Amino acid sequence: MCEHVSVNSKELDSQYLPELRCLVKQLERGEASVVDLKKNLEYAASVLESLYFEETRPIEDPEEELNDIKSDLVPSQVRDWLALTFTRQRDLMRRSEDKPRFRSIVHAVQAGIFVERRNSNTAVLSYPPEVITVFKNVNKWSFDVFTLNEASGDHALKFVFYELLIRYDLVNHFKIPVSAFISFVDALEMGYSKYKNAYHNLMHAADVTQTIHYLLLNTGMQWLTELEIFAIIFAAAIHDFQHTGTTNNFHVQTRSDIAMLYNDRAVQENHHVSAAYRLLQDDEMNIFCNLSKDDWRELRTLVVEMVLATDMSCHFQQIKTMKSLLQTPEEIDKPKALSLMLHTADISHPAKCWELHHRWTAFLLEEFFTQGDKEAELGLPFSPLCDRKSTTVPQSQIGFIDFIVDPTFTVMTEMIEKIVTPLIEEASRSGLTGFRRSSVKSTGSEANCSLNAVDFKSFRDMWNQETHRNKELWKAKAIKGTDTDIQLSLT
Ligand code: CMP
Ligand code: MG
Ligand code: ZN
Repeated sequence: MCEHVSVNSKELDSQYLPELRCLVKQLERGEASVVDLKKNLEYAASVLESLYFEETRPIEDPEEELNDIKSDLVPSQVRDWLALTFTRQRDLMRRSEDKPRFRSIVHAVQAGIFVERRNSNTAVLSYPPEVITVFKNVNKWSFDVFTLNEASGDHALKFVFYELLIRYDLVNHFKIPVSAFISFVDALEMGYSKYKNAYHNLMHAADVTQTIHYLLLNTGMQWLTELEIFAIIFAAAIHDFQHTGTTNNFHVQTRSDIAMLYNDRAVQENHHVSAAYRLLQDDEMNIFCNLSKDDWRELRTLVVEMVLATDMSCHFQQIKTMKSLLQTPEEIDKPKALSLMLHTADISHPAKCWELHHRWTAFLLEEFFTQGDKEAELGLPFSPLCDRKSTTVPQSQIGFIDFIVDPTFTVMTEMIEKIVTPLIEEASRSGLTGFRRSSVKSTGSEANCSLNAVDFKSFRDMWNQETHRNKELWKAKAIKGTDTDIQLSLT
């Protein structure tokens, strides 16, 4: 056999096939020499051999442990089983195939593929005029979900979720049957209302979902695929589904059914995602019915990872891991990035304007105190912040902002900056910065989500100013109130 020729199928097509055809013609005319024929046959064999090696080459293992397992010693079935059962290689392999998505999204936008088809959908879910008015602010950090809830007759989640699926063109892209969406979101809202929680209700889910939209819009979402955008919006919408209004610790201490089911680990978070997915098992609610098997699997992997990472007991580990990743030149794992975005949105109200933050805090503390009342009834010690008689709200909020919220926003902003900056540079080199992603409907000047509009400084300044102002206001309350009464602290 002659020496190895490295060739890909494109080269074969463009260079060699015409030559081979020419040789066949020469043979037909009796013009080809035996020497030429032999040379060409040898070359053709080497090309085919090279292609064969390329096709059958074992795929590199991202998991080091698997590198030792040589493909010729281990049957491919066993290799696949090892990869599937003991590593996350399958997911990683699929994601790496998706790599050049930034470009493809840009091209899709340039080609006008993303077109809002609002009219065909509003025929099924009609918007009250008040909701349309409120949605003029949906791209804003200060979006008031309480007003939306009033305008929509206690359906803030339904409208925010639907609005975003339309704006990101996900209803069309994933062929979501709108009737299934309506059945699903109705059941979702009922689950959020099941325990009549002051804080963990459908308004909180709507708030986190809208906050994700803001982050996507203002931090250059072009680094995400449609599937990842769908996954994070869906995860936000379901992330506290059927919340019991009590903490994980309460579940563990009271040995609740779900604590038993999930062995005391991420008890509620496991339940939120599991119960939401169980709704989808009903054909009438299955909004994923038109997803391919691979998309379904990838979406589920992302959603499970994101929702489980909203367990606050993961917080410090999550921040620490991301901080150390930011010190290295390594690429940031997308599921980790998405998880940190969702976690940030989940604790974002202290970084919103005082009117919103104050209201959310009052609701959350009311929920904590209700748990404290139950703990007293059961003869259990009070959980932190749950004793309505002794909890000092302003101090707890200042501590929450200083130790949890500020560091989370800092790391998340740095993370997005690290991901998006190379894209901005790449886009500016190829002259692609000045586009709008037309799938995200612009209702105001702030809706520009082009890469050159990504303004990390303004974003950083904004949440810094809000948290600073909120802390000052809490401090003023702490000085004023010598009492420990929550009602006084919150008024
Ligand atoms: P959850 O929404 O399930 O996930 C994030 C958690 O952060 C939330 O529940 C609360 O337990 C906690 N949290 C959010 N905001 C505050 C706050 N202002 N003060 C104390 N804890 C908070
Ligand atoms: Mg939660
Ligand atoms: Zn939450």
